[in-house]
Amino acid sequence: MSGCSLDLNILIRSGCVIGLVGGGDVAGDSGGSTRAAGGAGDFDYEAHGDGYARRRRTDPRIAALIHAALGDARTVLNVGAGAGSYEPADRHVVAVEPSAAMRSQRPRHLAPAIDATAEELPFDDGSVDAAMATVTVHQWADPDRGLREMRRVSRGPVVVLTFDGDTLDQFWLADYIPQLIAADRPRYPAIGHIRAVLGGASTVTPVPVPIDCVDGFTEAYYARPEAFLDPAVRRSQSVWGFVDADIAERAVARLRHDLESGTWDRHYGALRHQPEFHGSLRLVTALPPSDTAQAD
Ligand SMILES: C[S@@+](CC[C@H](N)C(=O)[O-])C[C@H]1O[C@@H](n2cnc3c(N)ncnc32)[C@H](O)[C@@H]1O
Repeated sequence: MSGCSLDLNILIRSGCVIGLVGGGDVAGDSGGSTRAAGGAGDFDYEAHGDGYARRRRTDPRIAALIHAALGDARTVLNVGAGAGSYEPADRHVVAVEPSAAMRSQRPRHLAPAIDATAEELPFDDGSVDAAMATVTVHQWADPDRGLREMRRVSRGPVVVLTFDGDTLDQFWLADYIPQLIAADRPRYPAIGHIRAVLGGASTVTPVPVPIDCVDGFTEAYYARPEAFLDPAVRRSQSVWGFVDADIAERAVARLRHDLESGTWDRHYGALRHQPEFHGSLRLVTALPPSDTAQAD
């Protein structure tokens, strides 16, 4: 098969805006959406999204779990696709991404993304073999509606990579800046709720974070605390935008001090050699209600 080649005429006929690879230019109309131009969700990627693709890359071990969950799907819809992380290279992928800044970071080997939101997917019922959404559901204005849309357009699995808000405080960063966790927790729809909205038979897989994880979400740096001293690392993690800048600066200053004094290593140093962190990352895989026999 030709990998990710797409019939752009189909995309254009669907009435969607298409973000051009590398340029971020748009043409057309998004079909009546009321959202502000250039993005959607609870974080302003137009203002703060540059550099995302450099620090938030596909981690191959996490990708393997996602791709296995997609089963034998040949056509895959990626919702909230961002710069294209985790899109499988060996299937036909259609991507949906409302932020022009994020679409412009998609590498040239990936198909361009359609400017649309999860809540209004411009696809027919059952038109793709599978739908995926990675670390994006928590940013949607109406996660339930977006999840129902994914269920509607996928004739096979809906695969959602997200974080379990109830376990976020197990990460040592909570000891330095509990406000960060407090701000982050309510953003995440409960895992049980995601399963209920998607319906059918579903599974939840805890996803271990590898010690050298190349997708730079917060827990990815469990063994590399120095990373949080780098403003560019923090900028690529949307949650820092939800805490007061002074509080964040004080927390980072305390972390710097503890790293220099050895206090961090005395408390958490064993993590530097722990190959995986079992934190809050979860993979939800939901089969269509008509297909429950395949689930365990
Ligand atoms: C943290 S990024 C994740 C991007 C990509 N899936 C990844 O794994 O790197 C979250 C993405 O969700 C997008 N987003 C926010 N609100 C959305 C919505 N209502 N529908 C679809 N995508 C949305 C953002 O523009 C952003 O690109």
